[in-house]
Amino acid sequence: MPDISPASPASPAFLAGLPKAELHLHLEGTLEPDLKLALAQRNGIDIGQSTVEEVQATYVFDSLATFLAVYYPAMNVLQSEQDFYDLATAYFRRAAADGVVHVEAFFDPQAHTSRGVPIENVILGYSRAATDAAALGVDAQLILCFLRDFSAESAAETLAAALPYREHFVGVGLDSDERGNPPSKFAEVFATARANGLKLTMHCDIDQVGSIDNIRSVLHDIDVERIDHGTNIVEDPELVAEAVARGIGFTTCPVSNSFVTDDMKADEIVQLLRAGAFVCVNSDDPAYFGAYVAANYAALVEKAGLTVDDVARLAKNSFDASWLPEEKKAEYKAAVDAYIAAA
Ligand code: HPA
Ligand code: ZN
Repeated sequence: MPDISPASPASPAFLAGLPKAELHLHLEGTLEPDLKLALAQRNGIDIGQSTVEEVQATYVFDSLATFLAVYYPAMNVLQSEQDFYDLATAYFRRAAADGVVHVEAFFDPQAHTSRGVPIENVILGYSRAATDAAALGVDAQLILCFLRDFSAESAAETLAAALPYREHFVGVGLDSDERGNPPSKFAEVFATARANGLKLTMHCDIDQVGSIDNIRSVLHDIDVERIDHGTNIVEDPELVAEAVARGIGFTTCPVSNSFVTDDMKADEIVQLLRAGAFVCVNSDDPAYFGAYVAANYAALVEKAGLTVDDVARLAKNSFDASWLPEEKKAEYKAAVDAYIAAA
């Protein structure tokens, strides 16, 4: 039996109260079955299922590609600015209950504009929810992600369409199917984003063909500030040392890993932790993988036998890997220490 007494690092109450940042969270991946059904009804869309159980029965995936094949069609229910607001607000409420005080959340405009939804519905709905999240005690910011299985031209058009709303997002990212879509394909659009003062991150998904080459490329060619997933870097200790020296963040997602590969990748995450990397724990697409961020901490603690000190380090790393100003990082890290001291 795992020790889940209140003072143990695996206690759900302890982990939910721990102040933390969430840096790898796709807002579209927070679409719970009940909200999916409600939005389908609101918008008069037949999604082929009418109960939560029927929706859940479609959640069959064992790889990134099979997950994405379930994930994108579900987004049809998102149409109006209010739909995007409602989706993000439901997530921010769950985040607040999980001890998240700061979130830098991904969104995928092309998954919506490609269906004819105006980009302003997406950005303004999510942004209004992010503003209102302050009342929940959550400081929320947005990261615009390009879909890497769309063309580089489509990414450039998306950035151009989004720049009039520049004040609503803090950075850009890259997600969707990595196979055959290396970081270099997007070098130009990321350079344009940087020139517009945006922060840069990219997914390097788990166990992809050429994972380590893509990780090297995002560090050397694109020059990102952090990597989403990225745990295959442990295959190259010199690259790990470089990432540690540069303060690169790694936004890992243990439960997601166990769905799209055969393993949580706990050993790799712990290796990065022990090497001193800014590795942190996140939920990725919690409505699909069944675990919000505190449950991801719990899964990792149990699998890897982590101590309270390890958990505190992971939480502090989540702030160090964030795009907050240094004084805010220090404030939040002090809140982690105070929480641990009082636990
Ligand atoms: N990887 C790539 N694309 C995604 C992911 C992910 O973890 N989640 C949602 N889209
Ligand atoms: Zn992701």
